[in-house]
Amino acid sequence: MAAPRGEFTSRFGFLMAASGSAVGLGNIWGFPTNAASNGGAAFLFTYLILAFALAYPALMAELIIGRYARANAVTALRTISSGNKTRLAALLVGFTGIVTVSFILSFYGIVSGWMIAFFFDPIARLLGASQLSAWLTADAVMRNSLFVVLFMLLTIYIISAGVKEGIEKWASRLMPSLIVILLLLIVYVLTLPGAMDGLRAYLIPDFSLIADPSLLVDAMGQAFFSLSLGVGTMLIYGSYISSKENLPTIGSLVALLDVGIAVLAGMLILPAMYVALANGVEIYDDAGGLIAGPGLIVSVLPSLFTTMGAIGVFVAIAFFALMTIASLTSSISMLEVPVAYAVEHHGLERRRAAILIGSIITVISLIIVFNFDPLFDLVVTVTTEVSQPLLGFAFCIFAAWIWQRSEVLEEIKQGCPEVESGIFWKIWPFYVKFICPVAILVVYFQ
Ligand code: PHE
Repeated sequence: MAAPRGEFTSRFGFLMAASGSAVGLGNIWGFPTNAASNGGAAFLFTYLILAFALAYPALMAELIIGRYARANAVTALRTISSGNKTRLAALLVGFTGIVTVSFILSFYGIVSGWMIAFFFDPIARLLGASQLSAWLTADAVMRNSLFVVLFMLLTIYIISAGVKEGIEKWASRLMPSLIVILLLLIVYVLTLPGAMDGLRAYLIPDFSLIADPSLLVDAMGQAFFSLSLGVGTMLIYGSYISSKENLPTIGSLVALLDVGIAVLAGMLILPAMYVALANGVEIYDDAGGLIAGPGLIVSVLPSLFTTMGAIGVFVAIAFFALMTIASLTSSISMLEVPVAYAVEHHGLERRRAAILIGSIITVISLIIVFNFDPLFDLVVTVTTEVSQPLLGFAFCIFAAWIWQRSEVLEEIKQGCPEVESGIFWKIWPFYVKFICPVAILVVYFQ
């Protein structure tokens, strides 16, 4: 039936791919503004606890299931199920994951398209093409359509090339560049007037907010979205890890990279916003909060860059290159989920599957672009606030209640023979069995 499966050739390759999936618009855009509007370091603190206490165990569940089954989400969940009812549930959960991640990609692609347009804008200005620049930065159906198509073509191109030649190769190039650009931007922005106020807003905790339920809900949603959980992305990447790898260790490295880059991004975005304030750019919305939504990225920051003079052009290019890279390494992990399913389940050739499914998702994106107002928010809410937590819950149930514990242990032991005597095995099974599902439901019903 299907062609032989791909595999990551090195630990570095896997780490770049998985952290590339995790690090995306959620980290660089979502996390800093969430932190700023939820008590600064109080949010950071809650986020760190939730990321390691809840999201990391859920991430491990996906990685372990994936590597054991070495298959797409549907087949993998069916492999660890016994009995007709659970196998039916496996089909349902796996398939809902595939559909959910495809819809996530459909809106993610639109926003990523904006990032490419804003990347070209300073170049157009540098060349004196002011009309082009105006077109690139004006929110219009035509521009949005063109750039979502361009972004999806890049995504399809990488996924067509497969695990080693596509995902691993590109993530290993793009992620180190992302880290370098991020660090350079932080160093530069921190030298500007106003930056320290931003750092203070970000890092001085307001603990009066820590008991606020909305802070918990935001932090957990942020952690799940950021670690790409619940939709089979980490499961499929896990299915390409060599059996020699120590899963608990590489899982924690992925979580550390994801959290670390989110925290770093906060040290760029918040100071940049306060530099913008010092330069006379409006950074508060009508309700008195920091501008956090699309306005932050497509209005506040570009305005800041134009107040920076000549160097602002290069800062803008670097910043939007950073955003585009972050988006692309995430979008490829999203497209891989349905493509792996089509290849393994329906025997489609990879390139065909990537083009076919990528095109369907692009059409959905275009439908959203043409009906932005009702559709965009609706798709974001249903996928990330309803579907993703429920699927995360289901994955925990499969890993802890349905799958046989002895098999789980055998799988982890492959690359980590001493796991039984370590702390991971003392805590993790209990966590995915009780704490994670209950916590997800509690937060969900908040
Ligand atoms: N983790 C990505 C981000 O932070 C988003 C994502 C969600 C990627 C679900 C894959 C699957 O932007």
